[in-house]
Amino acid sequence: MRALVRETRTHARDLVLPMFVAEDNSAPVEISSMPGVQQHSMDSLRGAAESAVGKGVGGLMLFGVPSTRDALGSGGDDPSGVLNQALRLLRKDLGDDVVLMSDLCLDEFTDHGHCGVLDERGTVDNDATLVRYEHMALAQARAGASVVAPSGMMDGQVGVIRRALDKDGRSDVSILAYTAKYASAHYGPFREAVNSTLAGDRKTYQQDGANRREALRELRLDIAEGADMVMVKPALPYLDILSDVARHSDVPVAAYQVSGEYAQIEAAARQGWLDRESVMLETLQSIRRAGADFVLTYYAEYAAELLNTVE
Ligand code: PBG
Repeated sequence: MRALVRETRTHARDLVLPMFVAEDNSAPVEISSMPGVQQHSMDSLRGAAESAVGKGVGGLMLFGVPSTRDALGSGGDDPSGVLNQALRLLRKDLGDDVVLMSDLCLDEFTDHGHCGVLDERGTVDNDATLVRYEHMALAQARAGASVVAPSGMMDGQVGVIRRALDKDGRSDVSILAYTAKYASAHYGPFREAVNSTLAGDRKTYQQDGANRREALRELRLDIAEGADMVMVKPALPYLDILSDVARHSDVPVAAYQVSGEYAQIEAAARQGWLDRESVMLETLQSIRRAGADFVLTYYAEYAAELLNTVE
């Protein structure tokens, strides 16, 4: 009876697995603050991607960790940069079996670790960054990304990327906009995952966790600029935002269960203090119930496997 009248279901197809690939790695390296998650080598990435796709996950979101960084983040739009190379290989390996998504941001590629380029005062220059994002979008689309996901929270990023893609004949490449992305301490383990060099914080471009109304303004802007899908991040601590965005959005809504959310569950589960599988599935259910059409989660493959067998 409960199954018959259940309001929310989660399928493997509703899950997107974020994956890290590092140029320097010749074998996968486990991220210590995200036990169970690997920083892949190019080779191990291919195997892991194939395995996740085999379990039925709906998408993969790729992050690249380059061996060298500079002020402009040149590795981001270099066709032979680690992320673009990985996209090309996975596209060749997997074809259309999965939705291939790429993180479109400079923070992994800049030596200062910010999501954009800096002005002479050392603060992020919004408009100069947009030019870099255009180049990155083209490089990622040409390498095989079906979806580019600008995560830098620059004003106007969706509009310039849409125009650049269309001009390049790539109107079929979608934009998953990080619409409501909060300056959150829950990204802590991610910084280890990408060997981040960031000193300071991202409060000049990411949102204040105290603000709810602002998310709807960001949503209106992103949709007007041409976003095909929108995202809220982090997920569980921001379910109210997710619910608001889902109610007002007429494009699909995603939520990102971020590194710190994963780390909290893993830490407690490894101590035997929480039941991993139950808590994991319950959090994913909560995120879906709040309104997410799909969820980015480091548990995507694990959960997909369980969801294939449980009702
Ligand atoms: C920026 C980016 C971050 C995450 C995804 N994209 C880090 C940040 O904004 O500081 C965090 C993801 C996570 O914590 O799992 N490129």
